[in-house]
Amino acid sequence: MRVNHVGEVCAQALYTAQAMVTRDEHLREHLLEAAQEEMDHLAWTHQRLQDLGERPSLLNPLWFAGAFLIGTVAAKVSDRASLGFVEETENQVSLHLKSHLELLPAQDAPSRAVVSQMKADEERHAAAAVDAGALPVPPPARVLMKIASKVMTATAHHI
Ligand SMILES: [Fe+2]
Ligand SMILES: [Fe+2]
Repeated sequence: MRVNHVGEVCAQALYTAQAMVTRDEHLREHLLEAAQEEMDHLAWTHQRLQDLGERPSLLNPLWFAGAFLIGTVAAKVSDRASLGFVEETENQVSLHLKSHLELLPAQDAPSRAVVSQMKADEERHAAAAVDAGALPVPPPARVLMKIASKVMTATAHHI
């Protein structure tokens, strides 16, 4: 759940950065709308962490800064590149949530409810990015993103 919480911290940073950079009013509105849902995710995962007697990752400020920087860079390239980055991120997050759902014990209904709702929302965010004209992320960048998310996942388990 701490990993999921870190992911939502990054989602906040990403969407906020991209909304700040774009000059397209309509896109900004769309990004802020998604950011609002990510805010809900952040609150739900934080609540689950508390209920489970766990703390959030100590590295959250670092993750936030990193995601903010990457979001800014992607958005500076172009709106469509920025959306491509959203799509790829949301896809990777959905896959992670899917595997987490398979690992979660059947009796932990509150966690399962949070993770499945988030998975549905992230899938919708990815589809919305495609509808808005997302350009596919180039394969090397996709590999880098996968590595970054592995590092994030592995460290957030412990720190
Ligand atoms: Fe989310
Ligand atoms: Fe999302």
